[in-house]
Amino acid sequence: MRLNLPEYTLLPMTNAAEASNRNATWQKHLWGCLRDNRSIIHISVLYIAILTLLVYNNFIWTVARPTDPSQILYSPAESTLEYETKVFPENIWTKSPYMTGGNGLPSNETDGLWDDLYKYGIVKVNAEEASNLPNSTAELPHESGFYVIEIDVFHQLHCLNYIRKALYPDRYMHEFRDAYDTEGKRNYSGHDARHYDHCIDSIRLAMMCHADISIIPWQFDPAKEYPTPKLEVAHTCRNFDAVHDWAKSRAVANEGALEWSPGLETDFNMLGGGVLALV
Ligand SMILES: *[C@@H]1O[C@H](CO)[C@@H](O)[C@H](O)[C@H]1NC(C)=O
Ligand SMILES: *[C@@H]1O[C@H](CO)[C@@H](O)[C@H](O)[C@H]1NC(C)=O
Ligand SMILES: *[C@@H]1O[C@H](CO)[C@@H](O)[C@H](O)[C@H]1NC(C)=O
Repeated sequence: MRLNLPEYTLLPMTNAAEASNRNATWQKHLWGCLRDNRSIIHISVLYIAILTLLVYNNFIWTVARPTDPSQILYSPAESTLEYETKVFPENIWTKSPYMTGGNGLPSNETDGLWDDLYKYGIVKVNAEEASNLPNSTAELPHESGFYVIEIDVFHQLHCLNYIRKALYPDRYMHEFRDAYDTEGKRNYSGHDARHYDHCIDSIRLAMMCHADISIIPWQFDPAKEYPTPKLEVAHTCRNFDAVHDWAKSRAVANEGALEWSPGLETDFNMLGGGVLALV
């Protein structure tokens, strides 16, 4: 932005009289400009614009602190954000502990590892953190001053685990409510069917939201004798362990901590939801 005043460049001075004359003309012109209402309006608008910018900047800084451009909205876990590169292992021929065993089915160890990924997903935040949340959330029933939230990556991992279990009915059929009928046939209209449908869509949304643009190269495959895609490459990753540790240190200890007595909407203390998306 620039003031709407004429620009002056200094000319080489021939003598003092001419210089002083030029100064006088310049001052007269400037005063003329300032007396002109339009210029006063221009200057006022500029002043207000600068003031607004300063206040707005301060607002962003204290409320949302978007230091990481991938995190426009405030999250109480944002202090954990750090990035690293991670080489994803080959996992078509090589099994990770999160995959199936020799019999083609997952094991108790596999299940334990999956459960550990998201068992601290529901956490409590204090009143100051809660008041900055993009959406309002409820105070815990037995812990005044603390508010409950779930961090979405853990919800998404829970969802992926649910879909994983749906793929191995031999092992997990008993864990489902109404996904299978008594003969082991799939029921596509029950509560469970709605749940895994929801889970697939949540993971689709998350993957598109985070749009991993890591590359998959095509390299020579000796068995096929031509290039094929290779997945064992480095990715830019958020440090999941840091998010996990943060959640663990604030986890809602047990299900009892989430047992509310039913009541009217106005019976529950809510905080947050006042700050709009800063996009
Ligand atoms: C796996 O866990 C189930 C349920 O806890 C248990 O009944 C079973 O014995 C365990 N299997 C092995 C191989 O430890
Ligand atoms: C959360 O906030 C967003 C953005 O303002 C809004 O669109 C959405 O409806 C809210 N959701 C809930 C559950 O409050
Ligand atoms: C599917 O689930 C729904 C809801 O639980 C139930 O009403 C229905 O009887 C189930 N269908 C079969 C074929 O089991």
